[in-house]
Amino acid sequence: MKSKFPNKLFLILVACCFFTRTISAQVNTQLIPTPKVLKTSSKMSDIQSLNFSKVVRNQLSEYMNWVDSWVMPKGDSENLRLERMENLEKAEYTLKIKKVIEIGYADREGLANALSTLNQLWIINDGHFPEVEIIDQPKFGYRGMHLDVSRHYFSISEIKKYINQLSLYKMNKFHWHLTDDQGWRIEIKRYPKIQEIAAYRPETLIGHYNDNPQKYDGKRYGGYYSQAEIKEVINYAQARGIEVIPEIDIPGHSSALIAAYPELSCHGRQIESATKWGVFSDILCPTEYTFEFLENIFTEIAELFPSKYIHIGGDECPKDQWKSSEFCQSLIKEKGLKDEFELQSYFIRRVERFLNSKGKSIIGWDEILEGGLAPNATVMSWRGVKGGVEAAHEKHDVIMTPTSHCYFDYYQSVTEDEPLAIGGFIPIEKVYHWSPIPEALGEEFHQYILGGQANVWTEYMPEFIDVEYMAYARMMTLSEVLWGRNVPSLEAHAEILLSHLARLDNEGVNVANHLLDLEPVFSVDKIEGVRVIPHGLLDSLNIFKQGPEDDRFVELKANEGLPLNRAGLYKFKATTKEQYGSEMQFEFMPHKGNYASLTLEHHPSDKYSGNGASSLINGIEGYNDRYGGTEWLGFAGTDFIGHLEFTDVIEIDSVEFKFFKGEGQWIYLPKEVIVYAINDGVETELVRSTAINAEDKICKLVFPINVQSSKLKIVARNFGEIPEGKQGAGNSSWLFIDEIVIH
Ligand code: ACM
Repeated sequence: MKSKFPNKLFLILVACCFFTRTISAQVNTQLIPTPKVLKTSSKMSDIQSLNFSKVVRNQLSEYMNWVDSWVMPKGDSENLRLERMENLEKAEYTLKIKKVIEIGYADREGLANALSTLNQLWIINDGHFPEVEIIDQPKFGYRGMHLDVSRHYFSISEIKKYINQLSLYKMNKFHWHLTDDQGWRIEIKRYPKIQEIAAYRPETLIGHYNDNPQKYDGKRYGGYYSQAEIKEVINYAQARGIEVIPEIDIPGHSSALIAAYPELSCHGRQIESATKWGVFSDILCPTEYTFEFLENIFTEIAELFPSKYIHIGGDECPKDQWKSSEFCQSLIKEKGLKDEFELQSYFIRRVERFLNSKGKSIIGWDEILEGGLAPNATVMSWRGVKGGVEAAHEKHDVIMTPTSHCYFDYYQSVTEDEPLAIGGFIPIEKVYHWSPIPEALGEEFHQYILGGQANVWTEYMPEFIDVEYMAYARMMTLSEVLWGRNVPSLEAHAEILLSHLARLDNEGVNVANHLLDLEPVFSVDKIEGVRVIPHGLLDSLNIFKQGPEDDRFVELKANEGLPLNRAGLYKFKATTKEQYGSEMQFEFMPHKGNYASLTLEHHPSDKYSGNGASSLINGIEGYNDRYGGTEWLGFAGTDFIGHLEFTDVIEIDSVEFKFFKGEGQWIYLPKEVIVYAINDGVETELVRSTAINAEDKICKLVFPINVQSSKLKIVARNFGEIPEGKQGAGNSSWLFIDEIVIH
């Protein structure tokens, strides 16, 4: 287990909670998400179980297995009353618990929300109901969690566990990513080779995609859900207020399907399901045969899933095979299409027309905008919010799920011992500060933003405990954001979250708890040099440090900056009364850049802006195996141009650079690095190098320059467009840079 809870300390916490419960506050009303209005007498009601009449049982019939799963009704005296109330709005509910439990609801969703709250109150009060009066309603109607079961397969009982957590935290959409290059996971009765071939892959990449060389496990892997199992999940979710939205990803991400039915491709060759991650050139060919095949598949899907939506993917569809296919080129001419992007739109539109005829609406990833949107499509905006904004301007519904805030496969902590993840960095704080409505979107378009969703891609989550670790803590914060009616301060949210994580940990769920982690915030000053403030989410933290000058941990005043004067290892840890967090540490390697200022001509991406420009001259190096966090700066498609200024003319022997290479994540080394000295406004070129390469993920360059100057200008030219045949071909590449060491 990778849980961050030190078990002994956790027991102390539980004991403390129990102790405080028995002597003082009896009730816990710290719900996630926080209700719009909650009043409590701070007393526990006498209600021990739910007893209700036949009428109520009928009203609840859709929810029966849910209610039965947590409180068995017994006895005769009625204590649960339900009333449909005309004056409530969509998804709104009222809940009053005193002598009896009274729920008012406007619609099915409102009732589901009320029952979810009732369930959570009962759970967080150890099987009791506190006296409360609640009026509540979500801000966003679409509150989604996605799960990729293609990269790794999870059992039906694990899927149900996932749904339980979604339901408890009022996430109301489960986006089930059922198909991809690495395996097709849903039974299609008409096409048995899907079960025999597409559901399996010959082996699986182990370690990170960017490892050189890549390694494989040599073991056949796979599995699929029968339609009966899928139905079981749909019913289970429905009973918990959740709509299951299946994704059948077309026309790209189709290697597994083509492995089973090569005639669906343009080349007709036999291929295998993919054994590594990324984007593959094998895509579906837009022939009549393919459309008929897909219509047969979607007929089964539409019959199976009661959801309004079917997600048809549409993302990451390389066009090389369409470009070289005579059939596709003549189809483009025949239909009067401009290019392969319009051909993709033609493809999606045909599938949409078919699904609309079955009473379904489609959702597609934002690539479906590229050759023109299908008339009724909802856009899921993942490559930032740009696609979502564009779709909203076209009066299409939008679900926001940008990689910057909603990719829960990204790292959530800067601590060194995090389980291997794809990359990136999305801590709780980042999720908390997110809104699905982009600031720049005009108010008249807000109505098109249905809500938001977090995506859980499972390349690096082979087991379900990995999913628990990556998804749940951040999901709770996302739930608060999307419910959005009465969001507590970040500190208050973190305190509440801590108790929810403690409960889950106690139940044996492998939740990540990074709430006591410290993140170093560095500053660099021309006169004073480097200072660090260890920053924690919680208000009441005791922070300890052990620097190279200390022989043990000593307490540091909260928020007191610590000047870094000596080279060596610095360690920090935080405690509350009951727990301590993981240790945060870094190695400080002083150099002349610590007494400089660095200004940048281009901003790094918001996603990868570290502690700002000074991250590059603070004497701290980012990790060698990942690029999120406080040190690496990432530039999307732009050059790095930095102006380094010292207070006086100094002697500079050499300049050293560190770049990250991760071509699987579109991160390329610069094509050129140039260093200039600037004296009296005159630029003198000192170095120009194009020989930039690295076997592994890290490229370090040292340039002797032997110059006296107070200013340097440093340029690292972005690699530019990603070449054909590589992941992300045709897109602009990322440039990642860390420490610029001045000797
Ligand atoms: C995606 O992450 N390819 C939607």
